[in-house]
Amino acid sequence: MSSEKFDKAAASWDAKPIRVRLADAISAAIISKLPLNTNMIALEYGCGTGLVSLEVASKVGTIYGLDSSTGMIDVLNEKIYHHEVENMVPFVGEFTDLTIPSFDLIIISMTLHHIVDYPKLLTQFCTRLKPGGFLAIADLEEEDGTFHDDNDGIAHFGFNLASLNQQLSQLGLNEINKNAIFTVGKNNKNYPIFLLTARKPF
Ligand SMILES: C[S@@+](CC[C@H](N)C(=O)[O-])C[C@H]1O[C@@H](n2cnc3c(N)ncnc32)[C@H](O)[C@@H]1O
Repeated sequence: MSSEKFDKAAASWDAKPIRVRLADAISAAIISKLPLNTNMIALEYGCGTGLVSLEVASKVGTIYGLDSSTGMIDVLNEKIYHHEVENMVPFVGEFTDLTIPSFDLIIISMTLHHIVDYPKLLTQFCTRLKPGGFLAIADLEEEDGTFHDDNDGIAHFGFNLASLNQQLSQLGLNEINKNAIFTVGKNNKNYPIFLLTARKPF
């Protein structure tokens, strides 16, 4: 899906209950598995309407929400305004445009499969994590290309967890943990969603 498609989908994005239930499961798993605290500076890359990051916001000091879709960020800004969220900072643009030098936590939820050169992005994440900082990736396990109704903009049909684990390990991350945290049922199939967390050594 291009930014334009996400722009068009943004206003009704939260109206699909499965999206909300999946995001709730992802934020709950991140909160339960990582030792978050209110001194942390966090980032969600591809934050969309903030379904995940607005939940995580209450557990960290500041959370930045980056997305390439202005439509998504407009919806997020409305939610921030209405719920008087004071510690979330939305941002439209590229990761390399962010002036924050480093993060205690980087989250990427249901977005990595849209990124063609995802190993490059993972490398950038690792560079910008503070020593002791955490990376949290939630996405589809390998699937047969039937998860999305339209595969325009889908760069990867899920991920092989063993190879993702190996890539993160080669980038120098440790404390790598993988869990199946949710299953989306559709097309008479089950599509497992994983949460993978990893830590940059001190
Ligand atoms: C499936 S949505 C996930 C939204 C949110 N993370 C969640 O879990 O509810 C994917 C999001 O990634 C964003 N996105 C896609 N490609 C991107 C890119 N290259 N850079 C930044 N954001 C991107 C889209 O605009 C969209 O908001």
